Amino acid sequence: MSNLLWYLLAYLVGGIPFGYIIAKYFAGVDIKKHGSGNIGATNVLRVLKEKDPKKAKKLAALTLFLDAFKGAFILLIAKLYGVCDAVLWGMAVLAVIGHCFSPFLKFEGGKGVATTAGVMLVMIPKAAIVGIIVWFIMAKTIKISSLSSLVGILVGIFSAYILYPNIDINSYAPLWIIAFVVIYKHKENIYRLLTGQEGKVI
Ligand code: G3P
Repeated sequence: MSNLLWYLLAYLVGGIPFGYIIAKYFAGVDIKKHGSGNIGATNVLRVLKEKDPKKAKKLAALTLFLDAFKGAFILLIAKLYGVCDAVLWGMAVLAVIGHCFSPFLKFEGGKGVATTAGVMLVMIPKAAIVGIIVWFIMAKTIKISSLSSLVGILVGIFSAYILYPNIDINSYAPLWIIAFVVIYKHKENIYRLLTGQEGKVI
């Protein structure tokens, strides 16, 4: 299969808006029209917990899992087919871009955090785990989802420099492109964080 097709596949799979689908079909809610309008697990939890907190937690967990899984899945399939690392990194970027600018949602989408975790778990698993641990601890303690996500991703990327000293330096470019996309999608959250208006999730 040509590299171009792998890139297209990564973008399309990354673009599957699981949060939107789950909220719509399991709770009858258009998640884009409520809460922060984001299609990620945080907004699924935020919006659906008003009706049924237990169900909301389950659906948010499912969204988180599937958003991460889609990124990991497409890279694992490509790996099985012997796709080289450089193309895999390009696919990782496109999977996150697909999530953030979904072709199935008129190029709107999520903020890319879970999908970034998924692609990092395949490409640089040790760094991904560091980032996920930081995200988890922060989410449990300060309970501000956006800040936990941004710090988690940045710590994950910086830890890659230490955990993968032999990695090709070019591999960091895709990681920083992903970070840029995720930070860009959080621009409103960042404004609220800086002005002390960002709310807690629970
Ligand atoms: O992962 C999404 C999170 O970082 C922010 O989501 O809905 O609070 O804008 P939200």
